[in-house]
Amino acid sequence: MKQRLSQFIRLVVALSLGVGVSFSALAAEGTNTILGTKHDFTGLNKRVGVVAMSGVAFSDYGSPCVYCHIPPEQDGADSTPFGGIEGWNRFRPATEHSYDLYNSRTLDNKVKAPSPISLLCLSCHDGTMGVDMTVFRPNGWRSSDDAAMHLRINGDNNTMNCAKCHNGRVAHNIAIKHIGTDLTNDHPISMRYAGLSSADLDFREPDGPYGFDNGVKLYDERVECASCHNVHNPDIQVLLRDRADRLCETCHIK
Ligand code: HEC
Ligand code: HEC
Ligand code: HEC
Ligand code: HEC
Ligand code: HEC
Repeated sequence: MKQRLSQFIRLVVALSLGVGVSFSALAAEGTNTILGTKHDFTGLNKRVGVVAMSGVAFSDYGSPCVYCHIPPEQDGADSTPFGGIEGWNRFRPATEHSYDLYNSRTLDNKVKAPSPISLLCLSCHDGTMGVDMTVFRPNGWRSSDDAAMHLRINGDNNTMNCAKCHNGRVAHNIAIKHIGTDLTNDHPISMRYAGLSSADLDFREPDGPYGFDNGVKLYDERVECASCHNVHNPDIQVLLRDRADRLCETCHIK
């Protein structure tokens, strides 16, 4: 367990040596910045020159936004009665209450389950649900036309998973994007930030209720996947909110 965490830290250090940054892009956090990134599932076939993704591996809804956001024509719709994650167009993972979260003797705030904004990420990245499993579909999309396989981000090579092709031979390996449901080796999430009101001297006090001025965000005073990652900003490697060498010290003093 500890081994993967130290591997994580080593990777962070390695990454920090070779990242290019654009701070202006952080400030100008646009909304079309998803286009052309790994989270843009529309036009993926054309982009990478295969016919087997949009419409085959997963349903092509014709809009890159609806894989996460409630479609604009259903604006204000509530996804929760259908089992959706509050405010998002994704189902709550069935594994919601069985994630193994990071724990240690030194952890200040223990957590039982991830918050909605992190469930959003896990609904694809835990590898248990198809990437196209959305609560609402855009108007005009006909389920009768759907012949897709609804594949999952999962490194196990079987017919339910993107790893059918994304095994490092047919296409790049997807296993590293498969976080799984055991989060004990990943950075802790969904805990109250330990540095609020200088509560813990190992942590910096945030610049405001939103988080830190370099873009690292707190959600309802908590640390979530999106505290460190911004899926809307591809300028920093692996969608981080700040260069890896500065990311950790945004919060950690030592
Ligand atoms: C992979 C999931 C994902 C996709 C796809 C996606 N978004 Fe987002 N979007 C997010 C997340 C997460 C946030 C919250 C980011 C934050 O807190 O900084 C967000 C925030 C936003 C916001 C800011 C509004 C707010 O609630 O603060 C807008 C506007 C937005 N997205 C528009 C879009 C549009 C337009 C598209 C399609 C071109 C799109 N998004 C695609 C995940 C996604
Ligand atoms: C609708 C499914 C879906 C959702 C929801 C989603 N992702 Fe992803 N994510 C993907 C796919 C697909 C990839 C690309 C996998 C590949 O190419 O190997 C990816 C890649 C990534 C990467 C790697 C990017 C890179 O440049 O290599 C990061 C980091 C990431 N996602 C973080 C997040 C975070 C944080 C959230 C929640 C705010 C999130 N994702 C929500 C599907 C999703
Ligand atoms: C029939 C084979 C096949 C299947 C199934 C498949 N892909 Fe792909 N995918 C490819 C090929 C080939 C490429 C282009 C080469 C590469 O990027 O490795 C590609 C590229 C991609 C890219 C673009 C990477 C980039 O650099 O922009 C993403 C994102 C992606 N696939 C996601 C997925 C996801 C998510 C699934 C499962 C829902 C999936 N693919 C299923 C064959 C496939
Ligand atoms: C404390 C900051 C932090 C938090 C919280 C965090 N990540 Fe990351 N994440 C990173 C860093 C740094 C990297 C790059 C180093 C690495 O690959 O381990 C990364 C890498 C990734 C990758 C890409 C792996 C690769 O190498 O392509 C994905 C996908 C990802 N994170 C998703 C998530 C999801 C989903 C969550 C929430 C469950 C999350 N992250 C929470 C900092 C964080
Ligand atoms: C948004 C603020 C934030 C960022 C950025 C951040 N961390 Fe953390 N980290 C925390 C909090 C909060 C805890 C849990 C502290 C507690 O509750 O005791 C934590 C815990 C940890 C732990 C577990 C310590 C223990 O007591 O078991 C490790 C290891 C860690 N972080 C490493 C990193 C690394 C490496 C990075 C950079 C990739 C990073 N952190 C970035 C806020 C952050």
